[in-house]
Amino acid sequence: MAAAPAARFPVFGIVRLLGLAAAAAIVVWAVHFRGGMALSSETDKLLIFNVHPVLMLIGLVVLNGEAILAYKTVPGTKKLKKLVHLALQFLAMLLSLIGLWTVWKFHDERQIDHLYTLHSWLGLSCIIFFSLQWATGFYTFWYPGGSRSGRASLLPWHVFFGLFLYVLAIATSVSGLLEKSIFMQSAKMIGRFSTEAMFMNSLGMLLVLLGALVILAVVTPGVGKIDTYRGSSE
Ligand code: HEM
Repeated sequence: MAAAPAARFPVFGIVRLLGLAAAAAIVVWAVHFRGGMALSSETDKLLIFNVHPVLMLIGLVVLNGEAILAYKTVPGTKKLKKLVHLALQFLAMLLSLIGLWTVWKFHDERQIDHLYTLHSWLGLSCIIFFSLQWATGFYTFWYPGGSRSGRASLLPWHVFFGLFLYVLAIATSVSGLLEKSIFMQSAKMIGRFSTEAMFMNSLGMLLVLLGALVILAVVTPGVGKIDTYRGSSE
């Protein structure tokens, strides 16, 4: 197999910058374009919906990306890297569960059917498998911890599913942005070339770029190489 490409630019710094930009952009979208967020509201149920994309994107894309790269970006012992990795992933899982609850509540309160779109199917799969991946990883690599051979055989699958779920989270977020934009255009809430529609398209493009750079940062050889490639399962 050909060697992995070596990034000759500060890929980790750029990932952090794009992640922060994506997090800021989704908050700006919810607050500036969509009028804010609320966990409950009698007058404007859409404020409850607005919490959903913000928590999903910050949790399953931005924090997940940082957690994946923690083994390469966090200085110190392997135990500390692992702790940062599992803590960030836990926070991502928590935000995603709250984000799912808000959109579910919004659908209930507006009497909208659940799970009728491709986005919702992708999203539910993403949340279920992300939670399973976290629980399996915690049990095997942290507490109580599996046997040496158990850890060694799970690790390549943990890495593979972790990257797969990260890509799925990007695809789900992009489909969510697309769906919401089309909903709003069909309801004549925004125009096709409105600033908001262009803003949402740009955010989708930003997520795709961020995803590409996170994958590049994972595979790029060099300092802080992820231990899988050395065959370690600690
Ligand atoms: C990884 C990130 C995301 C996941 C896992 C996810 C998951 C879900 C799930 C499971 C539902 C179904 C709720 C129900 O049927 O009651 C849903 C609905 C929805 N989501 Fe997301 N979502 C994500 C990101 C986004 C983003 C960034 C947007 C952008 C605005 C968005 C927009 C929507 C919309 C408009 C709905 C309601 C319509 C539908 O059910 O498809 N989502 N999401």
